[in-house]
Amino acid sequence: MKHLHLLFIALLPTMGHSSSKSTSAPPPSCPDYSEYSRVKHEPFSSGKFALSYARPPPECRTFTSPALESLLDSMQSEISDPDLYRLFLNSYPNTLDTAIRWQGNSSTNPEEELTFIITGDIDAMWLRDSSNQLQSYLPLLNQLSEDPKTDPISSLFRGAINLQARYLLTSNPYCNSFQPPSESGIPPAKNGAAVNDQVFPPYDPSAVFECKYELDSLAAFLSLSVNYYEATHDISFFTQSKTWLAAVKVTLNVAEEMKQPTYSPDGKVLETKYRFTRETRRGTETLFNDGNGNPVARNTGLIRSAFRPSDDATVYQFLIPANMMFSRYLGGVVPIVNEIEKGFGEELMKRASELRVAIERFGKVPVMAENGTTTEMIYAYEVDGFGSANAMDDANLPSLLSAPLFGFLGTEDETYMTTRQRILSSEGNGYFMKGPVLSSVGGPHVGPGWAWPMASIVRIMTSEDDEEIRVTLKELLGSTDGLGLMHEAVNSFDGIKWTRQWFSWANGLFGQMIMDLRYRKPHILKESFQ
Ligand SMILES: *[C@@H]1O[C@H](CO)[C@@H](O)[C@H](O)[C@H]1NC(C)=O
Ligand SMILES: *[C@@H]1O[C@H](CO)[C@@H](O)[C@H](O)[C@H]1NC(C)=O
Repeated sequence: MKHLHLLFIALLPTMGHSSSKSTSAPPPSCPDYSEYSRVKHEPFSSGKFALSYARPPPECRTFTSPALESLLDSMQSEISDPDLYRLFLNSYPNTLDTAIRWQGNSSTNPEEELTFIITGDIDAMWLRDSSNQLQSYLPLLNQLSEDPKTDPISSLFRGAINLQARYLLTSNPYCNSFQPPSESGIPPAKNGAAVNDQVFPPYDPSAVFECKYELDSLAAFLSLSVNYYEATHDISFFTQSKTWLAAVKVTLNVAEEMKQPTYSPDGKVLETKYRFTRETRRGTETLFNDGNGNPVARNTGLIRSAFRPSDDATVYQFLIPANMMFSRYLGGVVPIVNEIEKGFGEELMKRASELRVAIERFGKVPVMAENGTTTEMIYAYEVDGFGSANAMDDANLPSLLSAPLFGFLGTEDETYMTTRQRILSSEGNGYFMKGPVLSSVGGPHVGPGWAWPMASIVRIMTSEDDEEIRVTLKELLGSTDGLGLMHEAVNSFDGIKWTRQWFSWANGLFGQMIMDLRYRKPHILKESFQ
């Protein structure tokens, strides 16, 4: 997840849609969505929030799906509150409406579909964002009656998996964000913030937009594959792919390299496999110890991550939510891998369970009760294996709060329940924001005082408590500044202050949460939030 600073925006070239040869580029007369989403459009919703209509005009949408349109229509009778329905209507289709920047086939393999998905106003594709952006549409894949081969949404998934595999195989697999495929004819985006980055292993800026090594980016590739497979059972896509298995092996190699501790048993400093420094005024944009990060201990079995899913530097490199997610999806790809290479699935299973053991052993810290005893354990956000731990959570996914969403554990897990309680309190999480507008987890990316709607959405998705869901939903509804879209962060005391008007991942996630409530808690969608 990226955050745009004004300076950074100024350095970017203007990115109209007109110059591209994209199969899905809207006509040149279409408004620039980063401007369009900044202002209100009629007709406003009929409730007290009078929310803007924020979908681009039909001819300007980057992808259209009859299945999606009929789902949006059918939800009108499921959601009683007019403002809540409007927020859903704007948000859920946002990735399809605005972020499918290009679709086509590979020039080297005409049978290989490619999908280039942008996060918003930069023509670059993040591994994490694109996986998450698509997974919002799993409800559409799950209800598929057609053959996945001919379904347009399925094709989006396959195209994204193929392009991610290409990024991992032909660019630098330590990187988090990549340039348009050459087939698209879209010129590489300039990254003003990264021009003086010193990164090892080096990368080519015409292929890579930014090179922050994040374990969850690797897990994102696995999760997109698993999501597609579990929804469609389309095994032939994987068995026929010339690149998929090789890309899985690349993620494993990187993860293995990044288990490396700081010191050898005899005390020598080991040369790290990844280094990053940036000229910056923000502490979170560069790494300690000349780009190597803070020291990590030997023999933990945990995998390092130099950056968090916020694209901020980790303090301690064993980032627990990313390790959880990687373990979960290593296990998840096993049924696919078993159809391609005998024996390899067992290897993956072994690594996934070793990682789980490492998380249970090194990833927890005791919490002190009011009487001074330490009886309960919680998951730490980050540890170093020497005993240091960062007891917090950050809004970006994967977070500790979201662990049940990616299926590492269940909401009834005892350690999770204790952790969740701590994360959602100002006593237990230095990045929990409280305020009259929105009380939610934030993070150093936008800073203290800024609550993230994304974490509120996850809070709802991990709750069985109707009252908690109601209160959180109501806060979300009232924190869009009338624009009817999810923002990145909202000032918890002043709802007209927010960041990012066009954040398609958070929008999709909001819609996904509503779809989840439709099955889990349909009665809540029948209530009024006025
Ligand atoms: C692109 O690839 C898909 C999947 O293999 C195939 O069905 C389709 O015909 C290809 N399209 C073109 C234009 O080659
Ligand atoms: C201290 O508080 C914890 C948590 O409330 C409780 O489980 C424990 O029994 C208490 N211990 C003592 C010695 O009072």
